[in-house]
Amino acid sequence: LGVSISAAKAADFPGDRPITLVVPFSAGGPTDKVARELALAMGKQLKGQVIVDNSPGAGGTIAAKRVINSKNDGYTLLIHHIGMSTAPALYKNLGFDPMNDYEYVGQVADVPMILVGNKDLPPKNYQELLPYMKANVSKIAYANAGVGSASHLCGLLFMSRIQLDLTTVPYKGTAPALTDLIGGQVQLMCDQTTNLSGQLATNAVKSYGSTTMQRIKAFDKIPTLNEQGLKNFEVKVWHGVYAPKGTPKAEMDKLAKALQGAIQDPLYKQHMAELGVEIPSQANASPEGLKKHLKAQIDLWTPIIKSAGIYAD
Ligand code: MLT
Repeated sequence: LGVSISAAKAADFPGDRPITLVVPFSAGGPTDKVARELALAMGKQLKGQVIVDNSPGAGGTIAAKRVINSKNDGYTLLIHHIGMSTAPALYKNLGFDPMNDYEYVGQVADVPMILVGNKDLPPKNYQELLPYMKANVSKIAYANAGVGSASHLCGLLFMSRIQLDLTTVPYKGTAPALTDLIGGQVQLMCDQTTNLSGQLATNAVKSYGSTTMQRIKAFDKIPTLNEQGLKNFEVKVWHGVYAPKGTPKAEMDKLAKALQGAIQDPLYKQHMAELGVEIPSQANASPEGLKKHLKAQIDLWTPIIKSAGIYAD
């Protein structure tokens, strides 16, 4: 009888009960933007409803732990980005294992970053920015979304490359950070194009270069940092979706199928393209593709972070 009940439940999953997609950063930011687009597209695929719930803080680790402790019935999911792969090196007492404490649904977006400054910052381009920073290091504050965030990682790599230690100001997401960058409370930040598109269109911020090897098609007037001399400076913010360990296979299969259908949804693809976002291949969008990429990223970033001697706790 038990088997037939769970099979019946899985058959009409999710039914009219909404699925919660937990977002580890503030509303209005880049992760939130991807999450809301994905929620819409996955809801269509599942003929159900996916609602977004922001649980910001501690570079995304608060939300990551919340989902581990959620009911493994398929109705709670986590979206998280590259920060899932840097957390093991950054947090000595992380309290969970990204490689073993979840079920893996798939990858949903690769988002490029742009180094942006307050519009009144004197340097007009990256060539002028470097000497200016060296001469005014105490006057420049770098904003990020907490240790382990993409903006933190990009800043960590940037400062280690230019051998400068800027004051860093952590926020609960780059949405509030961007408000302060525009207001002049902070001067510099790496942020994702999913958060910057409006500000770039209205020149509300200065863009000093993208963290990609080729110019971003949707923002092709912005030179890459690589072409301006910061050779091979590449940070792409990949995003994955996770479920609590033990979520039944039948529900997991439905969620994985819905995710792969969602990222091929014409509206999702169009909105992501407008924001400079690359859609992962179907292979990378699979559960195995996500788990494999996560392991490779943990192996890549752990020595880089440890050699930079940075810890969060
Ligand atoms: C956000 O959604 O606020 C960003 O992903 C934060 C970050 O990782 O920089």
